[in-house]
Amino acid sequence: MCGIIGFIGRSIKGKTITDSLKKLEYRGYDSWGVSFLSEGKVEFFKEIGEIKNVPKKIEEINSSLAIGHTRWATHGKISKINAHPHISSDKKISLVHNGIVENFSELKKQVSNNNFSSETDSEVVLRLIEENVNLGLDLLHAVSKAVSVLEGSFALLVFSASEPDKLIAVKKESPLLLGVSSKGIFAASDQIPLSSFTNKFVFLEDGDIAVVKKDSFKCFDFSLNPVEREILEVDSDVTSSGKLKYSHFMLKEIMEQPFVLRQVLSQEKKNFDEISLLLKKHPVFFIGNGTSFNACLFGKEFFSRAAGISSQVIDASEFPYVLEFLPENSLIFALSQSGETADVLDSVRKAKKRNFKIVSMVNVFNSSLVRLSDKTIYLNCGEEIGVASTKAFTSQVALLYLLSNSCAEKFDSALEELKTLSLKMQQVIELNKNSIQELSSKIKEVDDVFFIGRSLNYPVALEAALKLKEISYIHAEAFQAGSLKHGPLALVSDGVPVIVVAPMDKVFSDTLNNAIEAKSRGAFIIGVSNEKNDAFDFFIPLPKVKELLFPLISIIPLQLLAFHTAVFLERNPDRPRNLAKSVTVK
Ligand code: AGP
Repeated sequence: MCGIIGFIGRSIKGKTITDSLKKLEYRGYDSWGVSFLSEGKVEFFKEIGEIKNVPKKIEEINSSLAIGHTRWATHGKISKINAHPHISSDKKISLVHNGIVENFSELKKQVSNNNFSSETDSEVVLRLIEENVNLGLDLLHAVSKAVSVLEGSFALLVFSASEPDKLIAVKKESPLLLGVSSKGIFAASDQIPLSSFTNKFVFLEDGDIAVVKKDSFKCFDFSLNPVEREILEVDSDVTSSGKLKYSHFMLKEIMEQPFVLRQVLSQEKKNFDEISLLLKKHPVFFIGNGTSFNACLFGKEFFSRAAGISSQVIDASEFPYVLEFLPENSLIFALSQSGETADVLDSVRKAKKRNFKIVSMVNVFNSSLVRLSDKTIYLNCGEEIGVASTKAFTSQVALLYLLSNSCAEKFDSALEELKTLSLKMQQVIELNKNSIQELSSKIKEVDDVFFIGRSLNYPVALEAALKLKEISYIHAEAFQAGSLKHGPLALVSDGVPVIVVAPMDKVFSDTLNNAIEAKSRGAFIIGVSNEKNDAFDFFIPLPKVKELLFPLISIIPLQLLAFHTAVFLERNPDRPRNLAKSVTVK
């Protein structure tokens, strides 16, 4: 995915745009670019890599009309030429795009001026607009005509030096909103870069074209029929920004989990009651990807244990293949931090065609998934900037616990349990923050790490392995502890770390036996438990909590383990290679 930003209003410095664009870098950071209308001309600048060492000339430029883009390459390699903004041949029109134009190859053949300078699908959109302008259309009509032939997803921002009083914004299946401020009107992929300017947002709908002027905006559909979009005032208390005293966003996001849990728990009971009713009436299928998929596994467990509701979990990337076999009247429960993950959105759109009910659990306000849902529970855990999901995971698990209890008419007591748990979360951080660094200094030396757990501890093992592999690039795998002897045990040799998630619960002794089997083949056993055991070569202590709540504390030291290992290996945990915060391609 990519991040885009735009502005029209009173004259501002270029630095305002580049600083704001930097806050979108979590959406993609392989190259970036900005363009400004300055003294009647389009000035632009593009660079490979992250946004730093911005030339003085760009920071100090004065402009009342600007757009910017931070890229995550999908069509075309990482290069200055493929970086956005794209500029028309006559240097008058400038465009940024987030999304994928699926029919760009066919469209490319139809453009008469086929003097393309980049390999991107986005440049094709610009050329179509340019061609329409050359035929005599004004910018709005030129954009509307161009977008009506596009297939795929796109959020576009376009301006022209010939019409300096407007910025055109277009949305279809990629996020885009307007922020109305005292300086003028911004457009951006999300509200994060705009939260220091305004809390008044206009969430554009799919199929919208907005004509944005310095103090007003009008919205149309793709055929240019007017549509009404209201300005929403958003409570900005939950949107913290900056790393504060921490070296990395990921560390900040791990450490703030005890506090964040309190914030997450301020949920509207009525919403939970309504969703609980739905869950009791329909066959339930959880979907999600990556960490959100792992959280779904807890949803299934909590629902059956706390409320006797049976459900299934399907990875969102596989969901379309099983959809036709699901019963009528199913309910899809989609989990996504960003609400923009392509596999999830695609699955939900397809499920809607079968008239399934959609319930979602999402962090980003009014994201695409929210708009597709009948009902949504917001995580309210604040911005999660680190690519590795941490506080969103514990928020998802906590809210699934609350919801499953709400289905069993135990909302209030579960709420109290979770409030108390935030103190235990703090305790687990205090108990482990120094010793985990010592363990990380050992783990950084190895090629493979195995995580094992049974029952509810297995999804913890899965999530811990995902964290370690995605940010340290060390091979990490999770197994159900009992499955070790059916094959994976062959991988265990002298010194291989096996991390055993084994709090003192019903499955403790069976898990311990599996750990001992691995130990007798030379494994270095790291026990994550509230009870020390002689089998553990290294001990990660947990405080005692209710059995179902252990996952919410046992994951925290393992998140810290992944973080410190990555830092020891000089790998940036906030920006792991090959990964982006939201995966907006299937
Ligand atoms: C988590 O650490 C990952 N980077 C990734 O697996 C992520 O959880 C997944 O892409 C789903 O994202 P979402 O929750 O925003 O849908």
